Amino acid sequence: MNILVTGGAGFIGSHTCVALLGAGHGVIVADNLSNSSAETLERVKQITGKEVLFYQIDVTEAVAVERVFAAHPLDGVIHFAGLKAVAESVEKPLEYYYHNTVSTMVLAGACRRHGVKRFVFSSSATVYGENRVPFMETMALRPPANPYGRTKAISEQILGDVARAEPGWAVALLRYFNPVGAHESGLIGEAPVGTPNNLMPYITQVARGKLDKLRIFGDDYPTVDGTGVRDYIHVCDLAEGHLRALDRLSPGVHSYNLGTGRGTSVLQLVKAFEEANGIKLPYEIVARRPGDIAESYADVTKAQRELGWAARRNIIDMCRDAWRFERGRG
Ligand code: WQD
Repeated sequence: MNILVTGGAGFIGSHTCVALLGAGHGVIVADNLSNSSAETLERVKQITGKEVLFYQIDVTEAVAVERVFAAHPLDGVIHFAGLKAVAESVEKPLEYYYHNTVSTMVLAGACRRHGVKRFVFSSSATVYGENRVPFMETMALRPPANPYGRTKAISEQILGDVARAEPGWAVALLRYFNPVGAHESGLIGEAPVGTPNNLMPYITQVARGKLDKLRIFGDDYPTVDGTGVRDYIHVCDLAEGHLRALDRLSPGVHSYNLGTGRGTSVLQLVKAFEEANGIKLPYEIVARRPGDIAESYADVTKAQRELGWAARRNIIDMCRDAWRFERGRG
């Protein structure tokens, strides 16, 4: 199939391009490079030996998007492109609502005009809000704690309504838990601009001496050891989940949790990283981070049952692969 991957130069997007090319699909990437680099696409080619067609465009711009759809017969779209820093979304809600929802509408409009009926959307576990764990797709969603999460919930609603109005559309809403790790080659991985917000890239930069120590945001949560519990999933497992969604998707709109179904606390992740890589990680317990929830992990039975997909890599694989990539960043 010929697939348009928006945000394909990004962390999850680039790993998904590797998986798509490896499965024999054609890949066209649209990315504005606001939080990624074209060098990543060179590395995708190095890993797979295959070219991707690249358009440096902003997918909120309908004219630019139309040009891509007019130039290439597409069988599906995977929409990653968007703003994704939770704290930043609180400071800049308008930018988040604009970029993350207008891009979805522009792409859905182009799909409708060009008869493209497969749409895979990069959603997030944040749409569950503070719900009972494990999160299940059948749960009533609660208001996400921040504008970023709300833009994901709104995009899900937009795509759901379009799928119900357009005959034959097949829409997958993939709710990611906490993607971490890197491709085993060490050539692509998570390279946030500036000081990392997320735990794993912060840990790898402490391990490299780029940051002095890890600050653990609170150890007084009602969890196994007081620190926050999350469902970390290897980015390559996540990428493979997108392939399955594309291949197995049936008409209608379907949400799927892409996680491992296992929760890991911050302290447990620190310990796993130290064991996997033989590195001592300095850390200090500090105050809770506003907006954080105690626990988030997935019920993964629906993706297993309907997509025949399950995460294969464990927390040690994630720590080892994340560290190999960080070490190689020079
Ligand atoms: C994980 C745990 C922190 C950093 C967010 C978004 C989610 C997705 C992933 C985009 C928490 C603790 C973290 C640090 C810490 N983003 N932590 N010190 O908040 O679960 O999810 O990122 O798609 O949508 O909501 O991920 O990695 O920031 O935090 O103690 O320096 O690590 O408190 O318990 P989070 P995270």
